[in-house]
Amino acid sequence: MNTQTLPRIPPRIAVLATGGTIAGQAGDAASTAGYKAGVVGVDKLLDAVPALASVARIHAEQIAGIDSKDMSLALWTTLAARINELAAQDDIDGIVITHGTDTLEETAYLLHLTVKTTKPVVLTAAMRPSTALSADGPLNLLNAVTVAASKHAAGQGVLVAFNNQIHSARDVTKTSTYAVDAFRSPETGVLGFVQDGRVEFQRTVTKPHTTASEFAVAENWPMVEIIASYAGVSGVAVDALVAAGVKGIVVAGTGNGSMHESITEALSDAVKAGVAVVRASRVGSGHVMRNGAASDDALGTVSAGTLNPYKARVLLMLALSAGVKDAAALQRLFDTY
Ligand code: SIN
Repeated sequence: MNTQTLPRIPPRIAVLATGGTIAGQAGDAASTAGYKAGVVGVDKLLDAVPALASVARIHAEQIAGIDSKDMSLALWTTLAARINELAAQDDIDGIVITHGTDTLEETAYLLHLTVKTTKPVVLTAAMRPSTALSADGPLNLLNAVTVAASKHAAGQGVLVAFNNQIHSARDVTKTSTYAVDAFRSPETGVLGFVQDGRVEFQRTVTKPHTTASEFAVAENWPMVEIIASYAGVSGVAVDALVAAGVKGIVVAGTGNGSMHESITEALSDAVKAGVAVVRASRVGSGHVMRNGAASDDALGTVSAGTLNPYKARVLLMLALSAGVKDAAALQRLFDTY
């Protein structure tokens, strides 16, 4: 018998570039704040990381080149559709998306609920432009590809690899405007770590996602907006949104999703006019309990649980585009996802 072992063929990973600071360019290497995001092409990003060659065979695509503050619903549709196409191919083992940090958590959660694959899908980004001294993008990219190439990452939903940590798309949020450890999962903690080629998961994702999610990415997105509650807020914004035909409003409430009395009446009127209203919190961690700081039963509102306002908006848009409008049915979705 021939006992000679065959050389291992590295997994084939698709890298989809969308822009962000990871593809940012500044006038000088000491500049980490004044730069243009999303201008360096994917080939150049990959060339900066020769070590990728020993981790994976790369298939690269430039999907967009934007600052993620300008992420659009149309680009979400394009990105999710392309990931679904690639994931269905036998010759693709995992997918990495390079993205800006500013709306990364929204895109990640959207993909978590709409891509239909158990193959690893991993987002990464950078806080410093590609031209900076100590740019963090190259190592984040190498780590993201390493996670996407790992069999341990399969079936965990959409992941975020950043600063040696692995987060679930559902839980992760940006928590610093400048630090290279800009992401946290406040209620749950990291899923695992990636360092020097080693991928280690410490827990699994329990809420449904990807192939177990009932959602598909929308072609026609319903209008869903976010408002905040704060000292002296008026009901003017709520009334204007209802007049503009909004289908859903997420409230970034105070504390446990409490709302100033001056917007509570306007929101109650919005519910009566058929607008879905979800109570989230502006606090940044913790959960919003149903019938806690406000009576959801009396107001006809929905509590967001541990989803922050931006992720609550993603789920509300997907739910409304799937035809779910009733507050009790929406609450079931918020309790589930
Ligand atoms: C962006 O979100 O595209 C710019 C900021 C960043 O990536 O850190």
